[in-house]
Amino acid sequence: MQGQDKPHILSPSRQDLWRFTESHIWTFDTNHADPDPALSILRTLLDQPRWLEAHLLYDERGSQLFEQICELPEYYLTRTENSIIAEQAGQMIAAAPVECIVELGAGTSKKTMHLLREQVRQREGGTFAPIDVSLTGLIVSRDILRQQFPQLKFQGLHARYEEGISSIEKDLPTLFAFLGSTVGNFTHSEFVRFFRHLSDSMGPKDFLLLGADRVKEVEVLEKAYNDSRGVTADFILNVFQNINRQLGSDFDLRKMRYYSWYNPEWQQVEMYAISTATQEIHFPTLSISFVWEKEDRILVEISRKFEPTRLQQQLQCFGLKPVAHFTDPKEWFSLLLSKKS
Ligand code: TRP
Repeated sequence: MQGQDKPHILSPSRQDLWRFTESHIWTFDTNHADPDPALSILRTLLDQPRWLEAHLLYDERGSQLFEQICELPEYYLTRTENSIIAEQAGQMIAAAPVECIVELGAGTSKKTMHLLREQVRQREGGTFAPIDVSLTGLIVSRDILRQQFPQLKFQGLHARYEEGISSIEKDLPTLFAFLGSTVGNFTHSEFVRFFRHLSDSMGPKDFLLLGADRVKEVEVLEKAYNDSRGVTADFILNVFQNINRQLGSDFDLRKMRYYSWYNPEWQQVEMYAISTATQEIHFPTLSISFVWEKEDRILVEISRKFEPTRLQQQLQCFGLKPVAHFTDPKEWFSLLLSKKS
């Protein structure tokens, strides 16, 4: 069958961890599957503040709602980042002489097209390896890319970022693209863990292109995460429908509301679900129930905002040296190019 050879971007010592899934797509074999997802959810719910892991947002409906958020008039991030890349992809690619582009959490790779077009124009080819936990996204991206850029090798990696990152061959000059300000959805400790691991996995010829949303007027930030059509609210509250389906629990979506605000001290938008009436939630696999008191809140998601020079300094602490900074005329969003040193 076509596209079945093991991807050459994987280091030989890690190739056995991947199995062929679909033409040009491989899946990471997890043998460390969560024994009881109910326990890990209860653990974060009983923490203070109560919170939930971000991956729970992305079931089928969540992924669709997220696509809609990216198109909302108030949600400037996707549009702004896309226009920066569209206009400056030539310089980005020229500054990063690589053979391979790896995209972390790629979705359908719309914004990355501009980079790939330049890679083909300047170097006549190479490899594109998106890493994503959504197989559907990888398939869409594969079908578009193989048609648009037949010169590029497509090697889709169906896995979590960490699993994908540590399997990439270090000797292959690679540009890691981490777009969409997903870095802003990490807590401070997740941020440290992520960049330590990424930098350790990078070889001496590797680059990082990081998309980060910037600190700006509070009204602009708050509207972006509380749109007039309520799509963001639906996206955030959908997490409970997903949990109910996965665990057989009984969160009552009629007894909760969405609340978000920009916390200026922490420079982050915080997205909460607030209970409008005390409810007892049962977790049938555990025979433990959780009482969610009226007006108590659960922190479902954060979106940190950055100052680019400070972020560059932080990256330097992980051995990532600043190479270039790309931004838009309003300076709302930044793309930072760094090199492993
Ligand atoms: N990383 C993007 C952001 O912070 C996208 C995103 C992640 C998002 N989680 C979200 C957008 C929750 C809205 C709500 O904006």
